[in-house]
Amino acid sequence: MAKVVGIDRICVVGAGNMGHQIALSAALAGYQVKCTDVNEEILAKAKAFVEPYLQERVAKGKLSAETAEAAKKNIAFTDDLEAAAQDADLVIEAVLEKLDIKHKLFVQLDKICPPHAILATNSSYIVSSKIAPVTQRPDKVCNMHFFNPALIMKLVEVVKGPHTSLETVQTIMEVCESMGKTPVLLQKEIYGFLVNRIVAAVKNEALYLKDMGIASHEEIDLAVTLALGHPMGPFRLMDLTGIDLTYHVGMERYMETGDPQFKPSPAVVEKYIKGEWGRKTGIGWYDYGEGKK
Ligand SMILES: NC(=O)c1ccc[n+]([C@@H]2O[C@H](COP(=O)([O-])OP(=O)(O)OC[C@H]3O[C@@H](n4cnc5c(N)ncnc54)[C@H](O)[C@@H]3O)[C@@H](O)[C@H]2O)c1
Repeated sequence: MAKVVGIDRICVVGAGNMGHQIALSAALAGYQVKCTDVNEEILAKAKAFVEPYLQERVAKGKLSAETAEAAKKNIAFTDDLEAAAQDADLVIEAVLEKLDIKHKLFVQLDKICPPHAILATNSSYIVSSKIAPVTQRPDKVCNMHFFNPALIMKLVEVVKGPHTSLETVQTIMEVCESMGKTPVLLQKEIYGFLVNRIVAAVKNEALYLKDMGIASHEEIDLAVTLALGHPMGPFRLMDLTGIDLTYHVGMERYMETGDPQFKPSPAVVEKYIKGEWGRKTGIGWYDYGEGKK
């Protein structure tokens, strides 16, 4: 699908798990993309991902050589936020799930970006009304929630905050479609949006069953995949999205509400402290070391 009128340059802030794949999805759709991160190692890893990924897609016949070549030219990586965002029509923020970090970043972005630029957050849980007030352009702030892995997953949840203009929401929906995604619009903000609320209910029950010693995580995953037809069980999914993310989301929610039901489960805290955060660290609930699946 053709690019959206008025959106040529997209800046993706955060080149981690989500950011590098969102950036490449946008580059594949023909947008000029600048992807930035404060961590040089992550940035180098994101950059190194592009070429082999595109080559593999071409080799598999899923992508034309021309589109791959164009995507490669469309994407650039830099650790300089100002250079990345100063001419952006749209910024997609994909930094850590911590409100204070997002606040600091949106203050900077609001100063750096042109006045017309839309500032979208890929946050999994933080509604944009918690972020928009630190900017001078709340009407141009909204949630644009991709799923992991962002190059493959079609769904994007677009959430209209009370401050978000209809025009902003409309543009974001169109950008999603131009990237080959299927957006769903949430007319009102709600913590966790649609999918993560449903996933959380399953995940919390799975962690409860494990903490109670009722079954191992392998058996719980097996039960969920075989009986419910989910492509992966809740533990495998946590390994993919990051156990650190599960920990931070639980802590943020607990700090915000004071409700102990949101405290991360003992098994999650143990994994978090050990640094066993899932695929990104090579070990989580499962071991991704050499020779292991
Ligand atoms: N992991 C998932 O499955 C998933 C899915 C959907 C949405 N999200 C959301 O996407 C966001 C990013 O999650 P992730 O899993 O990619 O995290 P990640 O830890 O893999 O990546 C975050 C990146 O942000 C960078 N960063 C931190 N502060 C920065 C700043 N001020 N400027 C630039 N870069 C900065 C970090 O160096 C890191 O590389 C979070 O809000 C998360 O809730 C995650």
